[in-house]
Amino acid sequence: MAGNPPEVSCYRVSVPAKVGGSITVPGDKSVSHRALMLGAIADGVTEVEGFLDSEDCRATESAVRRLGVSVERAGESRLSIRGRGVDGLTAADGALDMGNAGTAMRLMMGLLAGQHFDSVLIGDESLSRRPMERAAAPLRRMGARIDTTDGHAPLTIHGAPLVGAHHVLEVASAQVKSALLLAGLYARGTTSVLEPAVTRDHTERMLRSFGVSVTRKNRAVTIEGGQRLSACPIRVPGDLSSAAFFLVLGALAAKRGLTIRNVGVNPTRNGVLEILTRMGARIAVRPNADAGAEPTAELEVKQSELTGIEIPRALVPLAIDEFPALLIAAAAARGTTTLTGAEELRVKESDRIAAMADGLTHLGIEVETLPDGIVVNGGSLTGGTVESRGDHRIAMAFAVAASVASGPVTVRDVANVNTSFPGFAQTATRVGLKVECFS
Ligand code: S3P
Repeated sequence: MAGNPPEVSCYRVSVPAKVGGSITVPGDKSVSHRALMLGAIADGVTEVEGFLDSEDCRATESAVRRLGVSVERAGESRLSIRGRGVDGLTAADGALDMGNAGTAMRLMMGLLAGQHFDSVLIGDESLSRRPMERAAAPLRRMGARIDTTDGHAPLTIHGAPLVGAHHVLEVASAQVKSALLLAGLYARGTTSVLEPAVTRDHTERMLRSFGVSVTRKNRAVTIEGGQRLSACPIRVPGDLSSAAFFLVLGALAAKRGLTIRNVGVNPTRNGVLEILTRMGARIAVRPNADAGAEPTAELEVKQSELTGIEIPRALVPLAIDEFPALLIAAAAARGTTTLTGAEELRVKESDRIAAMADGLTHLGIEVETLPDGIVVNGGSLTGGTVESRGDHRIAMAFAVAASVASGPVTVRDVANVNTSFPGFAQTATRVGLKVECFS
């Protein structure tokens, strides 16, 4: 799929004549990263279909290649990964650059901690600001030797023998859980992770597809070290986090409906559907019968009047990446929406509470920020210029805001949309937004 040419730094999005149609969105980012990492250490060849060919996933692809794994492309969304077995990775010839990808960096920490060689992980400016001790500290309890730079990347991982441990996580983080499960594969004995709230379980599902036994009891996930992975075909569903922008667009503006086909609806991350429905969105979920390890569905959304709500805290981890889009829905809804328990948003690709508050204020919406969330008073959006702060999801959220704004919305610093959604501007154009790209 064509991405933004790298020189595109700004969108000017105008009020559509008519919004609607039927689209697909690119493959799931979380699942694509995991397919590369697990395929790399499996025995045999893993065929991946629906792979997200985005900048974030290319960072992981390049890292596994540099660790000695052969990855062949058969079209932009098909990959063939020649696994080296759990003990077959080899040292890279320099630092592995994870770009903007937090998932890639944190999962790699777990994968590389128990190797027989050392690795260095680096990232871009945004990734280098994000907290890495949340993964490094519990990994050290298993014997890992990881040096962070004041808690951040660059990271040096000295390969070391690992022993299983029982972890009680303070932060609900699928990335940290996944890093620990990957390290657990290399550890002697049993590793378990007790999460404070259920987070996306893509790692557990995919490990099982590769024949690994992973058990869950309530909020605790357990894995035994020393298991081998056996290559298997992976079908990557469309990314619900990318679909979320179009769900909000449809709820705000698609009088005749907007359909998104083949979207992943894994119950550990589909909170966006529940939150939008509670706000009054009309969303039909039609499950696909033949989905693989990850359930998929066709989603159809039709414009309706939205009402502000108090977002239940229990839904926050299940919709953690969708709040930029959801806050646009909140801005256009009648009444007040309150989001709390979402302090994690402050340490995403940007401080998403601050970025959304600034942008919404520029578009005439009254907001109040909280340390762990935001209160949005729904109203009428004006046109204007907003800063994405280099954050892909902030950029796409404000592009969608144009559908209900009284004038065009200019979104600056949009190049990173390519990290998760190459072709976003084209897809948005297909369903009725006018997206002009400028450098
Ligand atoms: C992800 C987990 C979440 C999410 C991120 C993808 C994953 O991060 O925000 O976009 O693939 O495991 P946290 O683990 O920091 O919550």
